[in-house]
Amino acid sequence: MELKITCIPGDGIGPEIVAEAKKALDAVAEKYGHHMQYTDILMGGASIDVHGVPLTDEAVETARSADAVLMGSIGGDTTTSPWYKLAPNLRPEAGLLAIRKALNLFANLRPAVLYEELAGACPLKTEISEKGFDMLIMRELTGGLYFGERKTTEENGIRKAVDTLTYDENEIRRIAIKGFDIARKRKKKVTSVDKANVLDSSRLWRAVVEEVAKDYPDVILEHMLVDNCAMQLVKDPAQFDVILTENMFGDILSDEASMVTGSIGMLASASLNDTKFGLYEPSHGSAPDIAGKDLANPIATILSASMMLRYSFDLDKEADAIDGAVKQVLKDGYRTGDIMSDGCEKVGCKKMGDLIVERIK
Ligand code: IPM
Ligand code: MG
Repeated sequence: MELKITCIPGDGIGPEIVAEAKKALDAVAEKYGHHMQYTDILMGGASIDVHGVPLTDEAVETARSADAVLMGSIGGDTTTSPWYKLAPNLRPEAGLLAIRKALNLFANLRPAVLYEELAGACPLKTEISEKGFDMLIMRELTGGLYFGERKTTEENGIRKAVDTLTYDENEIRRIAIKGFDIARKRKKKVTSVDKANVLDSSRLWRAVVEEVAKDYPDVILEHMLVDNCAMQLVKDPAQFDVILTENMFGDILSDEASMVTGSIGMLASASLNDTKFGLYEPSHGSAPDIAGKDLANPIATILSASMMLRYSFDLDKEADAIDGAVKQVLKDGYRTGDIMSDGCEKVGCKKMGDLIVERIK
């Protein structure tokens, strides 16, 4: 199979981790007889430095013409980087929001899994972590507060800022359908998270999710208020299968969930539209403090490449080969600094990539 992939190395540790993910993809291609065709585009700070904007129309068109996009990370140190002296719509993050919108990537899948080998890194009490957990946060990605109208004004010397949270029923329905479809392939439970005791947008969310649930009698639906969900994630994460929620709640809860695993450097993500097209990126950020030092953990990006094979190309066997190689490398006791523990061997980003490639072959 010919796989046309657009890569966004991006900023910070992005280029290093994308390089390792490409190595893993190439190893899979060689083993299973596929051909990868990569085209790089600039986004975030890397694009600002060259073009003065975090994403150009040409870059969007290149991404659109591919079968899938593999991204590293974007952004820099918000207190010291000159990128953050620019107007908000010209900063690195604006590029990420723009590509999500331009490519209609409304469904963001963020798995948060407690890896057996890394259970020691979980910050929760043993009696909670020993139950294990494997949840998927399904975050709506192109609506809500991050895309609503916003403005800052000043009236009679008083500064005022407004952000708007809008959802229409179609935006809610399409993400709910994706959530239930995926729950069907997992443990068949959807926890829909909202703030329906206060917000109209949440009351509509809840009503539409209920309607969609009627078509999935085999999937259990429960509703949970977002503040309670934040609490339940540390109290009893094993209760969750698919968490279905709107943009900002999903942004916040997915960071919390990844922290609870103790190994954010391991967590992949996929952002999908209503075709097979998707953008795949690690759940962590650009870690500018360790960029270029061969210290980053490439596993989240390598697992994102595996999600790409699975969701955009239906190459399950190939994706399993990557996931299996990652599990094996952990079993064999190799760790990058972020997941290091006693008795293991500490390796850099490149070496971790090499070790995974060896196990794919
Ligand atoms: C994420 C990030 C982005 C978001 C930022 C960088 C705009 O936090 O992917 O979760 O809020 O969506
Ligand atoms: Mg976030």
